Amino acid sequence: MRTALFPGSFDPVTNGHLDVIKRASLLFDRLIVAVANNESKKALFSVREREELLRSACVEAGATNVETTTFDGLLVGAVLRFDAVAVVRGLRAVSDFEIEFQMALMNRQLEKRCETIFLMPSPEYSFVSSRMIKEIFRLGGDISSFVPQVVNASLAAKQLPPPEHA
Ligand code: PNS
Repeated sequence: MRTALFPGSFDPVTNGHLDVIKRASLLFDRLIVAVANNESKKALFSVREREELLRSACVEAGATNVETTTFDGLLVGAVLRFDAVAVVRGLRAVSDFEIEFQMALMNRQLEKRCETIFLMPSPEYSFVSSRMIKEIFRLGGDISSFVPQVVNASLAAKQLPPPEHA
């Protein structure tokens, strides 16, 4: 059984993430999508909320052989715990590459079994990011075509903080 791990902040999960999840789920026997409990990043949704949204979105998308979880600490620790043969990351544009390349090599330096594979989402998602979704929503824009239905509903129910530049 070949397991892959797709880690991320998922604050919140977008249709671009889901596209990568579906592609990765076809390549591996089991895909674990793991929400990082990253305290250095100020998140809109709690780790639990993010995992719950991910889980519902995966069900909504009909992605089978996909599990969700959360993790604390180093990604390589989670890779070993789940016995993952690969870390999956999405590459939307060349601009993503530099930091992803650095992370992949650092993770392999920390744990030599930690291989990273990059998957490109469909070009229609190449400009979608969780950060932009939150900003567009906060400013009253329509984000319904960029996020799963459950995320759209959860954002609508959230009291968003004012824009940072206000
Ligand atoms: O969705 P994101 O914010 O781009 O995901 C980044 C994430 C969570 C994959 C990365 O920050 C991470 O792996 N965090 C865990 C802590 C860790 O292992 N840091 C060293 C990475 S080189």
